[in-house]
Amino acid sequence: MLAEVSKNVFLHASQNRVLNKAAKKWGLKFGASQVVAGDTIESAIRKVNQLNQKGLVCTLDHLGEFVSSREEAIEATQYNVRTLEAMGKSGVNCNLSVKMTQLGLDIDPNFCMENMRRILETAKKYNNFVRIDMEDYAHCQITLDILKELRQIYGYDNVGTVIQAYLFRAEQDIKDLKGISLRLVKGAYQESPTVAYQEKKEIDNNYMRIIEEHLLSGSYTAIASHDHNIIEKVKEFAEKHHINRNQFEFQMLYGFRTDMQLSLAKEGYKMRVYVPFGNDWFGYFMRRMAERPQNVAFALKGFFSK
Ligand code: FDA
Repeated sequence: MLAEVSKNVFLHASQNRVLNKAAKKWGLKFGASQVVAGDTIESAIRKVNQLNQKGLVCTLDHLGEFVSSREEAIEATQYNVRTLEAMGKSGVNCNLSVKMTQLGLDIDPNFCMENMRRILETAKKYNNFVRIDMEDYAHCQITLDILKELRQIYGYDNVGTVIQAYLFRAEQDIKDLKGISLRLVKGAYQESPTVAYQEKKEIDNNYMRIIEEHLLSGSYTAIASHDHNIIEKVKEFAEKHHINRNQFEFQMLYGFRTDMQLSLAKEGYKMRVYVPFGNDWFGYFMRRMAERPQNVAFALKGFFSK
């Protein structure tokens, strides 16, 4: 009951435009620095360097919410281009994750496609890869359409996306996207029972189904989860079916289950840390708080240790 109330409070706060806007001026507060790697490209690259030295590879995500004008979308595109350039020049082992609503998807899909092409062109120059995060169900089909166009019409092979196991359509999408590098997740948004499984057990079962399908088809698979049960099952499955460790990787968020991240890397698995950064940190931070009530204690610890 209390967990449900606090979840709603955090979700509400994450969407509050006034708080999100104000937080940009505060700098990282309330322990957010434990899960957000600073507010500049330089601070993020420094953090990635430290993680690389511990045997972890990374993906950087420039945080951004509520982009509603072309100017903001162009600014976000330029920021992503600069981030790729900084990664390339510093030599860190890191790729890029982007949200297309930050790049103008809600303004005009063709404009968003142009912005994606600029980002992918820069990534190509530095031999790097870009992952399109999957947002809510309303953006799912258009995200997949743009991905296919970028790959098939424009010829970019350095781009992939995310499939969410809670969606009924996930299994068919996996079949359609055979051969493409995918990040597989359980799914983070609140979706209707008409399009998505609601029960944890059903989501977990579908998650394993799509992971197995993508691995068996020989496609590169990123398993992005903090769930130790899923991770153990994936390890066993890969072993049993002789799936080479260079065909898959595990991914977790920066600041979460750090011990497990390090031990997976020590066991010889590729472990990628999703590292968010930027001054638009508030919404991201609030959603992480909503996901797990234990994160509140975790953040407070960071708050008081400042
Ligand atoms: P889940 O939350 O189901 O937890 C299962 C169990 O794992 C818990 O009961 C607990 O025992 C353990 N556990 C989980 N977290 C823990 C912690 N912090 N400490 C200790 N134990 C813990 N979603 C989306 O819709 N689109 C996207 O593009 C992405 N991208 C993405 C990238 C990366 C790198 C990650 C890790 C996640 C995403 N997600 C996402 C989010 C994803 O869909 C999902 O909401 C969260 O990962 C939560 O689900 P989990 O599989 O981690 O475990």
